[in-house]
Amino acid sequence: MRRNTLVHIYTLTNGHGIEARIMTYGAALVSLKTPDRNGKLANVVLGFDSLDPCLAAVPYYGATVGRYANRIANGRFTLDGKCYQLPQNNGTNSLHGGTLGFDKHVWSADPPVPGSSALRLSYVSADGEEGYPGRLTAHVTYRLSDDDSLSIEYQAVTAAPTPVNLVNHAYFNLSGDPQATVLDHLLTLRAERFTPVDAALIPTGELRSVADSPFDFRLPHVIGARIDDSDAQLSRGNGYDHNWVLSKTGSQEPELAAVLTDPRSGRSMEVRTTQPGMQFYSGNFLDGKPTGAGSVFAYRTGLCLETQHFPDSPNHPAFPSTILRPGQTYRETTVLSFLVQP
Ligand code: GLA
Repeated sequence: MRRNTLVHIYTLTNGHGIEARIMTYGAALVSLKTPDRNGKLANVVLGFDSLDPCLAAVPYYGATVGRYANRIANGRFTLDGKCYQLPQNNGTNSLHGGTLGFDKHVWSADPPVPGSSALRLSYVSADGEEGYPGRLTAHVTYRLSDDDSLSIEYQAVTAAPTPVNLVNHAYFNLSGDPQATVLDHLLTLRAERFTPVDAALIPTGELRSVADSPFDFRLPHVIGARIDDSDAQLSRGNGYDHNWVLSKTGSQEPELAAVLTDPRSGRSMEVRTTQPGMQFYSGNFLDGKPTGAGSVFAYRTGLCLETQHFPDSPNHPAFPSTILRPGQTYRETTVLSFLVQP
């Protein structure tokens, strides 16, 4: 980030007291207050109120991740016969857009219209930035509605063919207590299959049924119930860190993908998306170690439900395509809806 660049935090509120705070650095959702069953508001995402801790090497709290979220094997892909090399910032892989991904840039914000509850942020990624071809103009709009939903809408256009995968990386903890783990949260995932990974967390290409495995969340399960089962896939991810293949009907509208509930506070969140996949990551790399600034979050005190295209898609022609070409518009929407259980 350039010195003297101003960073802003914008606040969106709705008629029921729900409040979302969005920082222009990383177009990040840094705070999201929702009520529990007694109407008590608390922040349900891990994040910071100031910039300093975000500049320390923190794991993408609430950020908009791009140009390609998740992993690309060996940081390499071939597109239209040409081979591209990206920074290898995760073992030999490229992770979350490389060394200086979209989460580490200041996005410009259209000042919200008074009374409006939407914020549109934009970022122009230069041709060749982090090894990706083509100048890409990306927009993300956060919209808080009176039906207690926060929608996150992505749009992008490119000057040359390029892979694109824009993802929000919020860590949820619906208890509102960032010291508590999320192991007692109940999760439902509307997915019959997931993409198993190799030792480097790269999909093998198989779409494996979740039946009879700790990956079956078709009915609600407590996250901690099977997370430490002896299972080769769970050991690879140190817990859950996998992409689920969402069950879709072919609709263009966001479809239900996940329901997360904290039984103690009664807070519940439904996730709807246009995306084909979801990375459920159970915060296994959070280690509570000081980063040099601000507070830190401990092992499994937040979980991510990253609605996305499948990891390493540019190297898997059988996966839904992530290639955006000039003249096309990338459009994806994820909607988070907040309710309470009695
Ligand atoms: C994603 C990845 C994880 C990890 C986190 C950030 O969820 O799948 O393996 O890299 O981001 O720490």
